Amino acid sequence: MQRNRNTSVMQFALNARLSYIRVKYLFLMWLVVFVGSWVVYVQYSTYSELCRGQECKTIICDKYSQGIIDGSACSNLCEESSLYFRRCLSTKPNNQVYTSSWGDQYGVIKCQLGDVLHYELGEEMEPKKEIALFDKPTRGTSVEKFKEMVASLLKAKVGDQAYLSSLVALILSVADSNKDGHISLPEAKSAWALLQHNEVLLAVVLQGREHTPRLLGFCGDLYVVEHVPHAPLYGLSLPWPMELWIPTGMRLSMDQWFTPSWPRKAKIFIGLLELIEDIFHGTFGSFLMCDMRASTFGYNDRYDLRLVDGRYVVAEEAFKQAMILQRCEEDEDCVYGVDCRTACDRAEHRCMAELAQPNLARACGALKDYLLRGAPFHLQEELRKQLYACSALKGSAEQMEMEHSLILNHLKTFLWKQISHTNDS
Ligand SMILES: Nc1ncnc2c1ncn2[C@@H]1O[C@H](COP(=O)(O)OP(=O)(O)OP(=O)(O)O)[C@@H](O)[C@H]1O
Ligand SMILES: [Mg+2]
Repeated sequence: MQRNRNTSVMQFALNARLSYIRVKYLFLMWLVVFVGSWVVYVQYSTYSELCRGQECKTIICDKYSQGIIDGSACSNLCEESSLYFRRCLSTKPNNQVYTSSWGDQYGVIKCQLGDVLHYELGEEMEPKKEIALFDKPTRGTSVEKFKEMVASLLKAKVGDQAYLSSLVALILSVADSNKDGHISLPEAKSAWALLQHNEVLLAVVLQGREHTPRLLGFCGDLYVVEHVPHAPLYGLSLPWPMELWIPTGMRLSMDQWFTPSWPRKAKIFIGLLELIEDIFHGTFGSFLMCDMRASTFGYNDRYDLRLVDGRYVVAEEAFKQAMILQRCEEDEDCVYGVDCRTACDRAEHRCMAELAQPNLARACGALKDYLLRGAPFHLQEELRKQLYACSALKGSAEQMEMEHSLILNHLKTFLWKQISHTNDS
């Protein structure tokens, strides 16, 4: 009797334990399913919010089919589907960036859906919420009149200079997308919309130079550029829950983990110095690079630097004109892009026109750690000294032209000397 009672108590205890384990597993499974679907949902909603390639295509192809716009990429994109969107690279919903296939060419499609950096003389330097409307030039505008429009837009951007007419001719040759020697109204509308993008203007100005990706084609203000195989320059991209847990100091050194060997980094940096030389007093005026972060640059398989994001490269003249119209209370209000700063005239509540630090100084400051890390021991002291002198340059480039070119040439020669005997040069 006693034995029977003991057995049934044990059975009861065993059953209770089994059902407890079952409930625990059920709960765990439910938790996994819940967290899993939440992650999938967050990923999906982030993706659908960020990746609006289809929307871009629909808007552009609609305008093309209505005969409003035309360009070298239109029929391939909209009719033959030989140009198509591949992987989404966008990090902002209004700035669509996709890798693309176009025949055997691997490129990158860029298309703006919201904020277009669009400013003209007399306007505040605020990004305006506006999608290209393709309302200019209007029907009936002659080619001569269109030329004048382009010339005055360029004059406002790059200033009045001797080569303005050849820049206009260059823009018009790009606008004539089917190369029939005639610019149709849809071609002119596309060219006008494209010209509002800093990146496109820069690609045209620097065409033939090797540090900006080539412009492969366009349709309206959607454009395709060469794909840069290694972009950004460095930096790990981690899922945001992980980002929250990593301290800034550790993050900075983690970013430098997967970078090329030092001679290759030196070659990439020389590329940056060459780009800075190209746009400082170049044929078509000076440009300011106002986003000197690693994400702005990339490099190809031969370790030649490429500028992958030219949205904040502005003509110096346009920058000055816009800056003096900007109202301010303190210096912090006088920043354009990421790092182009001027001082605030507190009496007048207006920003000053002169840039605090030239492109060269900001480049040295931003990429100092990148270049110093892994440098041969016997070079470190000299390199540190040169980078320090470079990043301490103040004032606009014209004000200290001599010092600017001395520092730039010193640094370039120094780096060349170190790598000229290696295979990478
Ligand atoms: N021509 C290109 N070749 C290869 N990758 C490119 C090219 N152009 C842009 N990218 C990549 O596309 C991604 C998005 O670029 P984008 O400049 O729009 O965003 P971001 O630099 O991450 O953000 P931000 O808006 O702050 O500039 C980046 O990872 C960039 O490296
Ligand atoms: Mg960028």
